[in-house]
Amino acid sequence: AETYLSITSLSEEQNTQIALIRGRVHTVRGKGKSCFMVLRQGSATVQAILFVDDKTVSKGMVKYASNLPRESIVDVSGEVHVPDAPVAGCTCSKVELKVRSIRCVSRADGLPFELADAMRSEEDLKREDAQFSTVQQDTRLENRWIDLRTPVNQAIFRVQSAVCQLFREALLSEGFQEIHTPKLIAGASEGGAAVFKLDYIGQPGCLAQSPQFYKQMAICSDMPRVFEIGPVFRAEKSFTHRHLCEFTGLDFEMTINQHYNEVLDMLDHLFVYMFNGLKKHCAAELSTIAEQFPVQPLQYLPKTLRLSFQEGMKLLQQAGFEPDVMGDMTTELERELGKIVKEKYKTDFYVLYRYPLAVRPFYTMPDPEDKRYSNSFDVFIRGEEIISGAQRVHDPALLTERAKVHEIPLESIQSYINSFKYGAPPHGGLGVGLERVVMLFCGLDNIRKTSLFPRDPKRLTP
Ligand code: 4AD
Repeated sequence: AETYLSITSLSEEQNTQIALIRGRVHTVRGKGKSCFMVLRQGSATVQAILFVDDKTVSKGMVKYASNLPRESIVDVSGEVHVPDAPVAGCTCSKVELKVRSIRCVSRADGLPFELADAMRSEEDLKREDAQFSTVQQDTRLENRWIDLRTPVNQAIFRVQSAVCQLFREALLSEGFQEIHTPKLIAGASEGGAAVFKLDYIGQPGCLAQSPQFYKQMAICSDMPRVFEIGPVFRAEKSFTHRHLCEFTGLDFEMTINQHYNEVLDMLDHLFVYMFNGLKKHCAAELSTIAEQFPVQPLQYLPKTLRLSFQEGMKLLQQAGFEPDVMGDMTTELERELGKIVKEKYKTDFYVLYRYPLAVRPFYTMPDPEDKRYSNSFDVFIRGEEIISGAQRVHDPALLTERAKVHEIPLESIQSYINSFKYGAPPHGGLGVGLERVVMLFCGLDNIRKTSLFPRDPKRLTP
């Protein structure tokens, strides 16, 4: 059997050797006795040419190749050839293939949109003399399995994969264990209305809004450091650039010995490791993305900036805003504070801690020194939230009291409260939104770009 080669493995050393390639027909142009095609594998492309000759390439073969629909998958066998000048527009520009045989493995239908149109840079799209059509996001999402073939999308999901791998690596090396908590549960896990209700074989059930309760129960089960990468469901009707109805949560939870700063130290170590790892391992992907969506690389400090909520409010007030100092921050104010912080501290990544207790979930530990505040934090990239976390209440009596304040029916969380009755260590943790991290790290404008098959209030297919 012949071996199939990858486009990226082709080189000038193989000159005159025969290579067999399986790829997509990226472009094809027949002209009389010749046919020029570009074959594609992922983001890699190479030129393949056919010329009618007396021996191997017939007129019929050139005609057959010229009529192959774009995106069809073909097996091409040909002689590696070093052209006089590099092939423009191909990632593999030093060699081309002189085709000897071509066979269609899977024929593509007419395309619902032009891949080339989906690959225009923002600069291109702004040009007044633009001749091409812009492809609407909906059309792309409707045909996501084609849309995902663009080099930028290929790059985005490699970055996404790297984020998960780096998260896992960093935590495993700190003694964490990976867990898998149930997604079918009896009641809401984060409170509020944003819960998907379902019929659980005759009983009412819900889709988990976070692994929150179960990662804490693992702590109570003597698993002192746990993490999970898993789906999170939110029946959010908010149609924004940063909300999905299903996203991937990167969560961890750990016991605390003295202070919840231990959680912040872990967060700091984890994210600096992740950012450094992305810069190191995904440099090519990041530059592919930045070519179409230009952005300043993320600025972050070796030791992450920690700003208290009160300091944050002060900075906003000094800049002329009027924030609700005992309330939650609006998205607009978060963004403004992001700008101020960037200017003052030269970082796009920072922690805001000690939020007012009233705006945090019932399971959040009140600040022992001032009960109007809490041992909690949010983390921002470029002025948008990517993480929320806190120390948790581990005393069942206080937890019951806090649940009552939030008007949460106790019977719906009884087993959660019970889990703290038999000795529970102090603990804290956080939840990260994977799609938001990738979106904001890469400076993209919409979370749908970083979700493989996004689920929003209007989209349940494909
Ligand atoms: O802020 P959230 O709701 O916090 C929790 O779920 C807590 N249990 C976490 C904890 O350990 N205390 O969600 C955490 C993160 C947010 O910061 C955001 O990045 C992301 O999850 N997120 C969403 N991402 C996409 N679409 C949505 N609708 C999201 N809601 C939250």
